[in-house]
Amino acid sequence: MAHEHHRHHHQQHHQHHHGDTDIDWAVMAPQLESQAELFAPLYERAMAWLAEEVTEPGLIVDAGSGPGVVSCLFAESFPGARVAAVDGSEPLLERARARAAGLGHADRFTTVHGELPEALGELEYPADLLWASNSLHHLGDQRAALAAFAERLAPGGTLALLEGGLPARFLPRDIGIGRPGLQARLDVVQEDWFTRMRAELPDSVAETEDWPALLTAAGLKPTRTRSFLLDLPAPASDRARAYVAATLNRLRESLEDGIDDEDRATLDRLLDPEDEAGVHRRGDVFVLKVYTVYTAVRTS
Ligand SMILES: C[S@@+](CC[C@H](N)C(=O)[O-])C[C@H]1O[C@@H](n2cnc3c(N)ncnc32)[C@H](O)[C@@H]1O
Repeated sequence: MAHEHHRHHHQQHHQHHHGDTDIDWAVMAPQLESQAELFAPLYERAMAWLAEEVTEPGLIVDAGSGPGVVSCLFAESFPGARVAAVDGSEPLLERARARAAGLGHADRFTTVHGELPEALGELEYPADLLWASNSLHHLGDQRAALAAFAERLAPGGTLALLEGGLPARFLPRDIGIGRPGLQARLDVVQEDWFTRMRAELPDSVAETEDWPALLTAAGLKPTRTRSFLLDLPAPASDRARAYVAATLNRLRESLEDGIDDEDRATLDRLLDPEDEAGVHRRGDVFVLKVYTVYTAVRTS
């Protein structure tokens, strides 16, 4: 039901705005899945780091889990824990359940379908670790959501927030076609899109993104911050190239208005599978990406 409310809300919302910031999560499923798979080494390092602080968790909650790739990595990294994946998209949760079953985790894996943060109320137990990776920024009122996340923690439980980091880099500054510095220009357009995306969310509240301060305001004690690097050097694997192509394609489509003709022509060449200068074939494609994780504990 919560999900239907969510969609309805979005549809109404869609009519009031131009709608280019509305995201259809189910359509993004294959991309979310392959991206998270490519990033698995980064998540595994983040989990090893979390394990220094979170010992023998009973319940791990993945808030805004998407297709559950990371939820299943939690099940592997913490073999004594139960894992609950919570998300507003049922098709994504279906994938999460199938993945967990395929990996032999079905007996300690559950999903909760509904709008965040309210859906957390359906969890039977408080969380020893609540992980929210690139999901908080899709909620209109991030401060209220963090307070609700904090309330679902067991005493001594940890909230781990993955937000921000650095924009990805896939190509050298000068790629021999078009004007050098393409990715830096795409970053600027993407930042504007992100600001609009947030402003157009239902019940959107503008917030300074000082995560430790917001975690403190939610009644938690911030403990650590650490950034994790995904470094896949050239020559890129087919999987890495597919991720680069999918990301550039999404940027080309969603940022259409902000990209000038020369950069659009460069993107067209980069995305042409037949073009020697394209990301499917060129030798200099790499993936560099940083994600930052903030932790905080519930002390009372
Ligand atoms: C960018 S994806 C992140 C997926 C995953 N955590 C990861 O890091 O790969 C954001 C996820 O948040 C979910 N989401 C966005 N807004 C939501 C809301 N209001 N309630 C519940 N889930 C939401 C989407 O369905 C999507 O799966």
